[in-house]
Amino acid sequence: MRRPLVAGNWKMHGTRASVAELIEGLRHQVLPGDVDVAVFPTCLHVGQVVAGLEGGVIAVGAQNCAVESMPGALTGEVAASQLLDAGCSLVLVGHSERRLLLGDSDEVVVRKFAAAQACGLLPVLCLGETLAQREAGQTLEVVARQLSGVLEELGVGAFANAVIAYEPVWAIGTGLTASAQQAQEVHAAIRGQLAAENAEIAGGVRILYGGSVKAVNAVELFGMPDIDGGLIGGASLNADEFGAICRAAGN
Ligand code: PGA
Repeated sequence: MRRPLVAGNWKMHGTRASVAELIEGLRHQVLPGDVDVAVFPTCLHVGQVVAGLEGGVIAVGAQNCAVESMPGALTGEVAASQLLDAGCSLVLVGHSERRLLLGDSDEVVVRKFAAAQACGLLPVLCLGETLAQREAGQTLEVVARQLSGVLEELGVGAFANAVIAYEPVWAIGTGLTASAQQAQEVHAAIRGQLAAENAEIAGGVRILYGGSVKAVNAVELFGMPDIDGGLIGGASLNADEFGAICRAAGN
C-alpha cells in the first residue's frame, strides 16, 4: 500500500511575517498518522520554516534546484546539496510554471532530477498538459513524453526514490479541477508506462494530483486507485484548509 503524500507548494508567496503565521497555523493542525505531509516555501524562507516546524512531522522541500548538485559558480542558483544542508528533504522538479514561463526544458528537468537524487533529496517530478493539448486529444502523449525524458536518461530505477505529480496546466490556479476520472486516467497511464519497465517500482511510486485541489474536492480525487495524494498550491497558503486536505488523504 502506498503512503499518501500531501505537499503544499507556496510558490512565490510569503513574507517573514506571513510565513510565521502559516507555520503557527500548521503546528496546530491535527494531521493523520498515515499520510506524509510536506511544504515547499521559497528558498528565502526555507530556514525559517525548517526551524519553525522542527520537532513536527511536516517535511520541508524546495521549489527548484540547480542543474549542478554541488556548490559552484552559478550566480542566483541554489544547489541540491545546499537545500539538503538547509534542512530540505524534497524538491519540486519541472513544475509547469518553470517549464512554460522560466524555460526549464525536458533536458534541464532531467538534470535537476538527477542533481536532487545525487544529494539524497526526493524529487517530485511534475507533469501535465496545457488546455490546447488536452483539447487536441494529446494529454496522454504529452505526459508520456515528459516522463520518458527522465525514464530514458536515468532509467526506471530512478523512480524507486521519487514522486510524480500530475498537474494539468489548465487546472492550476484556475479553480478548474480535472474530474476524478480524468485524473485517474492519466495517473493510470503514468503508472502503466513505468510498469512496462518495472512493475514493482511502478506499484510503489506515489503519483500526486495537482490543480485547484481544495478540501471539498480532495476526498473524491484521493479516493481514486492511482491518486496517492496531492500537490496543493493556493489552498496550501491557508493552514486550516491545507490541514483539511491532509486529513482527506488519511484513512
Ligand atoms: P493550485 O496550484 O492548487 O493553486 O492550482 C497547484 C500547483 O501549481 O502546484
